[in-house]
Amino acid sequence: MKLTLQPSGAVIEAHPGETILEAAQRAGYQCPQSCRNGNCQVCAAVLVEGRVLQGDVEHDHGEIFTCQARPLGDCLLHWDGVLARGELPVGEYACQVVECTPVGGDVYRVALRTPAGRLPRYHAGQYLLLEREDGEFSAFSLASAPHQGRDLQLHILARDGSAIALVRSLQTRATVRVKMPYGDTHLAELPDGPLLLVAAGTGMAQMQSLLEHCRARGFKHPLHLYWGVRAPEEFYRIDPWAEWENLPGLSLHRVVSERCDWRGRCGLLHEAIREDFSDLKGLHVYASGSPAMVYGTLDALVEAGMDAHQMRADVFAYAPRAR
Ligand code: FES
Repeated sequence: MKLTLQPSGAVIEAHPGETILEAAQRAGYQCPQSCRNGNCQVCAAVLVEGRVLQGDVEHDHGEIFTCQARPLGDCLLHWDGVLARGELPVGEYACQVVECTPVGGDVYRVALRTPAGRLPRYHAGQYLLLEREDGEFSAFSLASAPHQGRDLQLHILARDGSAIALVRSLQTRATVRVKMPYGDTHLAELPDGPLLLVAAGTGMAQMQSLLEHCRARGFKHPLHLYWGVRAPEEFYRIDPWAEWENLPGLSLHRVVSERCDWRGRCGLLHEAIREDFSDLKGLHVYASGSPAMVYGTLDALVEAGMDAHQMRADVFAYAPRAR
């Protein structure tokens, strides 16, 4: 029997005779629960579709207690507070704006600090939603890593009107509201093989977070970072770059795709990667950039022998390719 859990949309399998709570926990979900005997109501969910048996009573809609309810067929449930393995609860923070500084290439480094006593929980590679002055939220990758505590960093490209307005407002505001964490292209656990990080433009923010996390956790496998822009002046300042250049086990590659009037490498990111790697097997690949860049890289690397499952990118979730 299939159980669909809203709001996440996750689907789990329930065995006959099993309660919904037992099925969800067996599938690795962290669920709200306490007494497990139908008294505390902590495990309550809303049955939207399907039938369950709770005690001797059959229910086909409304509030049920997942520690008691046994599905009688496929069910759709709304069950708040259920977290998948590695998933962290979303929190809201009124952050101090510590700095909003131009770092070249029309990019601004934004440093935020969560309030004292409120340590944000996130995995390296996740993103946050930042509230604009009109009350709408915009998504930005976190360039910071969890070991940096209350200090969060973002890279904002301010080239269009709304991004320029956002940067100007951050330069004058003392605080800004954020919600986090989001995204499943993260490093909740370190991989057991070499990492290939591929960033276009400010996709670098996510890669900085992954790389700094690997350093902090003593990652032992080789790390390769490829950073691509269209013209050399679009490379912006990354604070730890000079340190990275001297780290054993880390190779850095900067690649320019269009206006190639510099001494460095030219071409597309996947071309550079294919030149450097005769064998892509065993690599864990993380990519960040526009959907066109991410899917172009995926296709080219699959053609060169990579298994598509080796690559992770937020683009796969927010801009799925039409089939
Ligand atoms: S856990 Fe207490 S009612 Fe289900």
